[in-house]
Amino acid sequence: MEKIIITYSEEETEVLGKELGELLFPGAIVLVNGGLGAGKTVFARGVARGLHVSAPITSPTFTLLHVYQGNIPFYHFDLYRLDNVEELYEIGVEEYMTGDGVCFFEWAEKFPDFFEEESLQVTITSEGPTKRRFTFSANSENYLKVIRALGR
Ligand SMILES: Nc1ncnc2c1ncn2[C@@H]1O[C@H](COP(=O)(O)OP(=O)(O)OP(=O)(O)O)[C@@H](O)[C@H]1O
Ligand SMILES: [Mg+2]
Repeated sequence: MEKIIITYSEEETEVLGKELGELLFPGAIVLVNGGLGAGKTVFARGVARGLHVSAPITSPTFTLLHVYQGNIPFYHFDLYRLDNVEELYEIGVEEYMTGDGVCFFEWAEKFPDFFEEESLQVTITSEGPTKRRFTFSANSENYLKVIRALGR
């Protein structure tokens, strides 16, 4: 099952992210793909809002991970500059992924073999200066339920 949702502005993407954040659950894993400037971080900001994170969301491009506290923790990863998946283990990624927060990965596509667990996958395609196509898919029922509830 796939769901496609189009947004026409940064604000709309943030609202979509917020809607997703409100539907996510402790231990949820969100894998987000899409090229430079697709809107992954804007979308992450929305998800954080949906989880009631009030701190400003900045890109973890240079730090690999930012941790926020909302009604549950929000773990925002950006794998863009990561060369070796070993570094992910070094920062304790497995504990985050089996913890009670939401793990959100930008550039998950760089390490397809690493992400074998159940997850929600989001691909963002730029279709113009402000038009973005979001494709949501999943490989397990708990995430499919979330996808079905999105955009209704
Ligand atoms: N519909 C839209 N949704 C999201 N962002 C949009 C949209 N239209 C235009 N933009 C612009 O696209 C840019 C998205 O930037 P953002 O940092 O979220 O991208 P990114 O995918 O995280 O990039 P990177 O790979 O560098 O981390 C912003 O400048 C934003 O204003
Ligand atoms: Mg980004």
